Formats: sequence, C-alpha cells, structure tokens
Amino acid sequence: MENPNTYIYISNILTSWYQANKRDLPWRSISDPYKIWISEIILQQTRVNQGLDYYLRFVERFSGVKELAEANEDEVLKYWQGLGYYSRARNLHKASLQISTKFEGNFPQNHSAVLQLSGIGDYTAAAICSFAYNQPYAVVDGNVYRVLSRLFGIETPIDSSKGKKEFAEIAQHLLPKSESGLHNQAIMEFGALQCIPASPDCNNCPLKSVCQAFELNLVTILPIKLQKTKVSNRYFNYLFIKYNDETFLQKRIAKDVWQNLYEFPLIESDQLVEITDLIESEKFKNLFQGISQVEIIKKSNPMKHILTHRVIFAQFITVTVSELNNKLQKLVQIPLNEIDRFAVSRLMELFLESLIKSNS
Ligand code: ADE
Repeated sequence: MENPNTYIYISNILTSWYQANKRDLPWRSISDPYKIWISEIILQQTRVNQGLDYYLRFVERFSGVKELAEANEDEVLKYWQGLGYYSRARNLHKASLQISTKFEGNFPQNHSAVLQLSGIGDYTAAAICSFAYNQPYAVVDGNVYRVLSRLFGIETPIDSSKGKKEFAEIAQHLLPKSESGLHNQAIMEFGALQCIPASPDCNNCPLKSVCQAFELNLVTILPIKLQKTKVSNRYFNYLFIKYNDETFLQKRIAKDVWQNLYEFPLIESDQLVEITDLIESEKFKNLFQGISQVEIIKKSNPMKHILTHRVIFAQFITVTVSELNNKLQKLVQIPLNEIDRFAVSRLMELFLESLIKSNS
C-alpha cells in the first residue's frame, strides 16, 4: 500500500464520491475561518443534524470573533445549552478573547498560532487551516480513523500513542497538497455516510477493490480501540426551593461536569438516598438553618442521566420556605418565570420541562 499511485487513486475516488454524495451544509460553502471554527467545535461529539441548528443560531448571534469576545460567558453557554461538553463553549469564548488581544481580532492564519488557541487541538487546527486556507494539514477524527484502518487493514489501536502517530502519518501521506480542504471534507464525509461503524454497505463501496479490511474480512473489527470509557455513578439531590414566586440557583464553579452552568442547590450523596435520610443530613439542615417552616412538597421520579464519563442518578425535591436565611440569600434568587434566562444542564432542563407539563 506504499505505492504513491494507490494514494492518488484513493484520494481521487474519495473526492469524486464526495462531489456526488456530499450533504449540502452551510459551513462547506464558506472560507471564513471563524465560522468554520465554530462549526468544527460544535460537530465534535455532536451529530450533524443536531449541530446544524446550534450552528445557525450561534453564528447569527455571534457573527464574528469580535461579537463573541464582547459577549458574556453566561450568554455563550446559554446558546450552547443542550449540546453538552460545555468546556467547548468556554474555550470558544476564551479563544475569541485571545484572538482579540494577540491578533487584533483577526483569526490567525498560521497553523501553529491556530493550534495555540484554547480548545484547538490537532484535529481542529487541521480542519480550519485546510478548509479556510487550503493549507496541507490532514484531519484525523473518528471517521478518518475508521476509513484508514479499514482501507489499509491497520490493527494498531487508534487510542494508543503508536496508533495516533501511525494514522496521522498515513492521513498526511494520503493528502493531495493542492486540494487539502476538499480531500479532508471528502474523507470525513465518506466515513460519516459510506464507511459507517456498523454494517457498512461494502458491496456498493467505490473503494472495495483496494480495501484491505474488505478483502480480509476485518470490516467489523476495525478500527481497534483499547480503552473502554470509564464511567462512574453520581447521585444528585436537587432542591427546587420555592419562596413566594421565587426560586434559587447557584453557579457550578468547580472543575467538574457542567462547569459554569446554573442549577438548583444540590446535595450530592454517595448512593441513592430516601428523602427522610436527606432531611436528616448535615447539608440539608445547614441550608435551611433557622427557617421556621420548611415543607417538602414533592419529589420527582428518579431520573437517570447518562454522560460520557458519568451516570447521574438525580431526584428533584420541591421545598417551600417561609423565610430566608443567610445561606439562601447567598444564592441567585430569581422569579420562577426567569429560570430560562440561565444556562442549565439538559438534566435541569428536563426537570423544568416536566414542571411546565404538569402545570398545563
Ligand atoms: N464532522 C466534523 N466536521 C465536519 C464537517 N466539516 N462536515 C460534516 N461533518 C463533520
């Protein structure tokens, strides 16, 4: 497979397949590095169908680096609400400030300068530099790993350092230097639509005659990945506290899931707890200390919320209070009908949606 003609053949097939089969997506017909950057960050760990609406709303509100840099992080997170992986949004905002101060607001054109921005790694830098500037940097994302591992029959695990190096080198060799943007789009789209993870339609694949995995019957086992994602359980007991027509939120400032999003006051436990035990806990007593009437109104059904590295078991407990203490006064106190001004997790959003449904 080292024959350079094979590489040229494969790349030509990929680009002609792409011209015939590509989806018409808004970030494909532009060369604005800012919009390409936003689209690529949204599309990491997000399906195109879901990402599309977010992309359109995001670039409508933050139309360039300047608008993003001038915005408040809370608002940027609000536009990201529901997409998950919120560090991506925080880094976008941070990088827009870096571009403002270091590059007078102009998106850098130099690959190593792009790579130094917050939240931009090898993949995103290659995507921006090839799509916006046609610079010869090969993208390697999950789609590309799959296509390359199958085409060349590579069994090196894609999450090993040896594998990363090997795949990056092959991707770079396969890249036609004068058509890098087109080739990169083509190979990713080919992975997304044709060379799909499960049950790809190999009989109708334009590359089947050169595909090692097809020849050796390895399609279902490639690519090989070593590590299973480690998942831990968390138990969240949220307190939906009502005081007249108001409630309380707090910002999650710790370096943890949902950093900088808002939520109801939370008591985390190390296992599922009954309300009776929760009420007896130090944290609960502390939060409501000195308040004459604290009434538990209801408890939500238990909710199981699955994230990449965590499963969160949550319950929401509705509590009314007759007065405030200094603990509650330190929280963000807001009218009930203003909760949706704040960026919250999908879990909080699901609970809020259930409230609306039960009231209507
Ligand atoms: N996934 C990641 N980048 C993409 C792009 N530019 N188009 C479609 N899907 C993608």
